[in-house]
Amino acid sequence: MKISSSRFVLSAYKPEDEPVTPGPDVVFLGRSNVGKSSLINNLLGEKGLARTSSQPGRTQSVNFYRINEACHFVDLPGYGYAKVPESVRQNWRPMVEDYLKRRQDRIALAILLVDSRHEASPLDLTMRDWLENERIDYLIVATKADKLSGNGRDKAKRMLARQFDGAPLTEPILYSAKTGLGKKPVWRFLDQALAPQKDNT
Ligand code: GTP
Ligand code: MG
Repeated sequence: MKISSSRFVLSAYKPEDEPVTPGPDVVFLGRSNVGKSSLINNLLGEKGLARTSSQPGRTQSVNFYRINEACHFVDLPGYGYAKVPESVRQNWRPMVEDYLKRRQDRIALAILLVDSRHEASPLDLTMRDWLENERIDYLIVATKADKLSGNGRDKAKRMLARQFDGAPLTEPILYSAKTGLGKKPVWRFLDQALAPQKDNT
């Protein structure tokens, strides 16, 4: 897909805030600080579109980006970071659950991010189980692969493939928002998911 436009639409804190513009959603899920906002920027080739931070918990609302005036990329707040204040953690669950439940039928693809340097956490696996249960197509994207050696990348790939053994569209994709590693394969799945008429043959 050629990106002709990408813009921030709004930050939703409650369902009423969500945009009413039509089209499918691509949703980005994962632990705080794993690199969701960086992935969105890298995929779109726009450095500052989604705000990133080395401080975990930067994204604390459901952020909608409008791509080509046709679909949304949805940046969810990250989960599972112990240092995030309790008040923020309490808000996370209803905010994310509301979004996922209410817009489930629109989700063309979910991208579940994990850190390529670590095993997936129980929360990551819970998220995966939920996506499986709801029959939402998803990709596992393993971020920060530039921090691994070639050998480390092979190992990470094997480890994550084992952990996420099941029915994802493909094996975990190693990604680097620094070097662009993984951008092509992720776009291949995005293009498929966002094609106006899905070819089911
Ligand atoms: P929250 O909004 O807190 O949930 O975090 P997030 O998942 O959106 O993470 P974000 O994109 O803000 O990135 C967190 C930190 O990791 C930032 O300092 C990024 O620069 C860094 N980072 C993200 N992706 C990569 C990557 O592929 N390689 C490297 N080396 N650093 C990365
Ligand atoms: Mg973020």
